[in-house]
Amino acid sequence: MKALVLAGGSGTRLRPITHTSAKQLVPVANKPVLFYGLEAIAAAGIREIGMVVGDTQAEIEAAVGDGTAFGLEVTYLRQRAPLGLAHAVLIARDYLGGDDFVMYLGDNFIVGGIDDLVERFARDRPAAQIMLTRVGDPRQFGVAELDARGRVIRLEEKPRVPKSDLALVGVYLFTPEVHEAVAELKPSWRGELEITDAIQWLIEDGRRVESSVISGYWKDTGDVTDMLEVNRLVLESVEPRLDGRVDGASELIGRVVVEPGAAVERSRIVGPAIIGAGARILDSYVGPFTSIAAGCTVSGSEIEYSIVLPRSSISGVSRIEASLIGHDVEVTPAPATPRAHRLVLGDHSKVQISS
Ligand code: DAU
Repeated sequence: MKALVLAGGSGTRLRPITHTSAKQLVPVANKPVLFYGLEAIAAAGIREIGMVVGDTQAEIEAAVGDGTAFGLEVTYLRQRAPLGLAHAVLIARDYLGGDDFVMYLGDNFIVGGIDDLVERFARDRPAAQIMLTRVGDPRQFGVAELDARGRVIRLEEKPRVPKSDLALVGVYLFTPEVHEAVAELKPSWRGELEITDAIQWLIEDGRRVESSVISGYWKDTGDVTDMLEVNRLVLESVEPRLDGRVDGASELIGRVVVEPGAAVERSRIVGPAIIGAGARILDSYVGPFTSIAAGCTVSGSEIEYSIVLPRSSISGVSRIEASLIGHDVEVTPAPATPRAHRLVLGDHSKVQISS
């Protein structure tokens, strides 16, 4: 069995971060989201990975290399444009050969790994095995309609009027039968070859498509809100570790990781939080659910529930919340200008203003 990992695409919903870098490499607790998927694949006993890449190939290759670090053998498959998930299967046809495979979307995050799924698939070998989960707004996903016995009868990609709240999770298992379906596809209304349509083709052709509804944790880390939420979840279970330097005037509370070479001076860090290698936290407050990447400087500032990418600096700013800050960013206070408060207050309001 092989894996096909999709790490191409354009990542429009994470712009501007993804103007300059691959969305699959945005870090969660200081580790690229893609790495969690690679670890899950390796843990399920799969060794050979086809990595579908696009314009950000160089960056993905620099991060993943030949896969040895994960116990994997990675082969890069270049997709000339993000023409759809089924298009990725099409270009991987020769690489996949006659093997079964798991297709894993590089920006998806699943808690609990994929061991059970892979095991079940290897035993039953349906043409396709998919996972579904209930979501608040199904219009952003592939959506499944089930019959009374719980079998999938119809799948629709990003429907305007969803038939259910069951979204397709971005991990799919296939036998080589899927190649027959992919070969028959026409581009959808959004101009892509949809994997959802390929699975629908299999259903209509009478092939066996198995589904299961999962209630565990899954997120498509497509937008900032989702990234912050996954970061929160991962940080909640980090083991506290102090490999950097913390001075006597600082305080660490709860689950805090301070990586080697990091320095914390005259600051208060309330976990769960992670301070990356070589980062410096000076005269600052870092609050819960914050990941500060390697080489950052935070001085005279307050930040919480945020992700900061490598080598950025934040100085003299209070207070940053629910933010995703890119690589090599500089955040500083605006020059002092006369300030005014503009208020629309209801009757009997009580307001506290700090000025
Ligand atoms: O996350 C689950 C959803 O993923 C499913 O519910 C949908 O049915 C499925 O179509 C997909 O929807 P998205 O709109 O989230 O897919 P996205 O364009 O974000 O692409 C998913 C990953 O695959 C991402 O890491 C980029 C990569 N990709 C995407 C396309 C379209 C490629 O490598 N090549 C491509 O051509």
